[in-house]
Amino acid sequence: MDTLVIKCGGSIINELSESFFTSIKELQSRGYQIVFVHGGGPDINSMLEKFEIEPVFEDGLRKTTTDVLEVVELMLAGKSNRCLVHKLEEHGIKAVGLNGSDGGILTGEFIDKEKLGAVGEIHQVDTELLELFFDKGFCPVLTPISSTEDGNKLNVNADMAAGSVAKALSAAMCLFVTDVKGVMKNHQVIEKLTESETQDLITDGSIYGGMIPKVKTALSVLNKGVEEVMIVSGKEIFYEDGQFIGTKFLQKEGVFK
Ligand SMILES: Nc1ncnc2c1ncn2[C@@H]1O[C@H](COP(=O)(O)OP(=O)(O)OP(=O)(O)O)[C@@H](O)[C@H]1O
Ligand SMILES: [Mg+2]
Repeated sequence: MDTLVIKCGGSIINELSESFFTSIKELQSRGYQIVFVHGGGPDINSMLEKFEIEPVFEDGLRKTTTDVLEVVELMLAGKSNRCLVHKLEEHGIKAVGLNGSDGGILTGEFIDKEKLGAVGEIHQVDTELLELFFDKGFCPVLTPISSTEDGNKLNVNADMAAGSVAKALSAAMCLFVTDVKGVMKNHQVIEKLTESETQDLITDGSIYGGMIPKVKTALSVLNKGVEEVMIVSGKEIFYEDGQFIGTKFLQKEGVFK
């Protein structure tokens, strides 16, 4: 069965359109097994504000002190995950919410403890556990929280976590669902992007903030056995007549699928 990894932005969980759920059901009926990985940026920021902690980002990655990590896990696992699972269930999509670190699904390492604190990258994904849920007809819904071999919790950028899951499952497709229609330049969605075009857009500042880890992950999974990678909107129709609408990443310069 083909696997679809859907990364749902924290920016969009509360605003997912009806057509999002219709598309998910259509994709399931076309034979895709689906795993969700989600972020929780706005939920995390609003709780940090209550604790009077200022969010700090480095190239789109959230600097994660011990206090921040506690809030990150609280909001991802206790709020964003609950919300997404609930919405899926409400629409008749069987879903089970899990913290990424549960059962050792996502194992990782610190990226740069000094500069970023407890920010991690995934080194291993236990796909066996995910397959178990697929076999029973459930969509696993994962937070991007991971843990090190020796049990330290890590805050992983949700785009990067989704990319690792997609690679580990050799997914047919990895979709990044966010609050914009795709990668934009001068208010226009760019339909197809190569690696060098993407790099140019980062250099000229057209791609910034949270879009940086998203496009970097998109390109890195494409070269690692994932057939198709797209950034699409969760607010608008992203799947119609078997076609996806958004920004598609291309494996090689000039190769149009
Ligand atoms: N060239 C670009 N085109 C479109 N959006 C861009 C671009 N450059 C930066 N962005 C910003 O990236 C944002 C999407 O990334 P962001 O990290 O905020 O959301 P997310 O990844 O969907 O949510 P979360 O981080 O909570 O999982 C957009 O809302 C937009 O502000
Ligand atoms: Mg993001």
